[in-house]
Amino acid sequence: MKVTYYGHSCFEVISGGKSMLFDPFITPNPLASSVNISNINPDYMLISHGHEDHVADAVSIAKQSNCTCISIWELTAWLTSKGVSNVHPMNIGGSREFDFGTVKMVNAVHSSTMPDGMPGGAPTGFVIQNAEDCFYYAGDTALHSDMQLIPRRHKLKCAFLPIGSNFTMDAIDAIEAARMLGTNTVIGMHYDTFGYITINHEETHRAFQLAGINLHLLKIGETLTL
Ligand code: NI
Ligand code: MN
Repeated sequence: MKVTYYGHSCFEVISGGKSMLFDPFITPNPLASSVNISNINPDYMLISHGHEDHVADAVSIAKQSNCTCISIWELTAWLTSKGVSNVHPMNIGGSREFDFGTVKMVNAVHSSTMPDGMPGGAPTGFVIQNAEDCFYYAGDTALHSDMQLIPRRHKLKCAFLPIGSNFTMDAIDAIEAARMLGTNTVIGMHYDTFGYITINHEETHRAFQLAGINLHLLKIGETLTL
């Protein structure tokens, strides 16, 4: 799988022969000013929850690319109300096979309201599985014990976990999450974008190193192959 970082919690993942964009928040993010969203045309968009810092560019990228937008029912209803035509609603606990692999929608412990006040449903995460890859994108979440259920059915290659604290779990909880998930490769997200979530990179890397877990903190625009 190839992972390209667009800042905050936004990644484009190529796996199973298709591209998936997660949680686009690019144009309002000053750290991501080098990214031109008109060049981002994924096959699919997966959105974890309704907060502005996860949906800011969802409608424009969905319209320009006509990608299939996968999210919880209420969030797809919001996308539809904004003129997005290609949506696939799911809900927590459900799985669905797509042409790149299977998506399972899983629990997240957070909140979710759309930027205009419409209901966002519940916050979610995703487990993606195909013949080559298997990964967990946690969305915004606290550490929670349901995570330990994921490796009973999925052998994860890596997990995308928030590490910025304040609105989500911190790096120490992310280490605990990685242990519960049975993976030793973590891609960090949801840090440094705002003052509330700035992290000390050196300390964070040291904590993961001591725990024996590989932490990737990608530069914006950087692509990682796993
Ligand atoms: Ni959020
Ligand atoms: Mn967020």
